Amino acid sequence: MKLQLALDDISIDDAVALLDRVHPFIDIVEVGTPFLIEEGLRPVRLFRARYPNLPVLADVKIMDAGYYEARQAFAAGAAYVTVLGVTDLLTVKGCLEVGAEFGGTVVADMICVEDLPKRIGQLEGLGVRALAVHTGVDQQAAGRTPADELALMKQVSRHSELFVAGGITPATVSHYIALGADVAIVGGGIRHASDPVKAAEELARLARQ
Ligand code: 5RP
Ligand code: MG
Repeated sequence: MKLQLALDDISIDDAVALLDRVHPFIDIVEVGTPFLIEEGLRPVRLFRARYPNLPVLADVKIMDAGYYEARQAFAAGAAYVTVLGVTDLLTVKGCLEVGAEFGGTVVADMICVEDLPKRIGQLEGLGVRALAVHTGVDQQAAGRTPADELALMKQVSRHSELFVAGGITPATVSHYIALGADVAIVGGGIRHASDPVKAAEELARLARQ
C-alpha cells in the first residue's frame, strides 16, 4: 500500500521542514485544501521542484469548471487532482479530459456521496480510475470513520485504485490495509503526532509490509 501525506493546516516553511525529513517515507505528498486556500498552487510548484521524485496531489475538490480548474492544478505540476464525486458528471468528464492531456490522475473524492455503488458505477463508466473514500474532518468530530465505506467500495469497484482518508494514524492504518486500500492518506496522524517523523516512519513500515 502507498502512503500519502496530507498537508492541510501548515505554512510553506513548516511543510518544507517536515518534508525534508519525511519524504523518504511517503509515496505521494498532498497539498491539502486549507493549504491551497492559504497559498494557492505555489506549494505544488515548490514541491515539484524540491522533491522531483515525489508525486504531488492537489486536493482542489473540484465542484464545477472541471476542465479549467483541473488544468490549473495539472499545469502547476500535480500528478493527482481531486474532483468531488457528488458533482455533475460533466465536471468529472472535463477533469478526465485534462488529466489525459497531462498524463495525470483524477481522484474522485466520494465524501457525502449517498449511493456509493450507483455513483461508483457511473464514475468508472466515465473513465475514473481512482476513488477516495473520505470521512471529513467535521464527520470525524462526530465519531465517524471511513472503514465501512471502504469495505463497500472494495466490493463494488471494478477498475479503480482505492484511496482512503479520515483520521488515519499508525494505530489504525493496518485496518485499512486489511480492507484493501491501495493508498492511505494521513494528515493529522503525522502532522499532529508528538513525533511526526517517527509517525511517518512507522506508517511507512506498516504500509510497505
Ligand atoms: C479534509 C482532507 C484531509 O486532507 C484528509 O481528511 C486527511 O486528513 P486527516 O488524516 O487529518 O483526516 O481532505 O477534507
Ligand atoms: Mg485533503
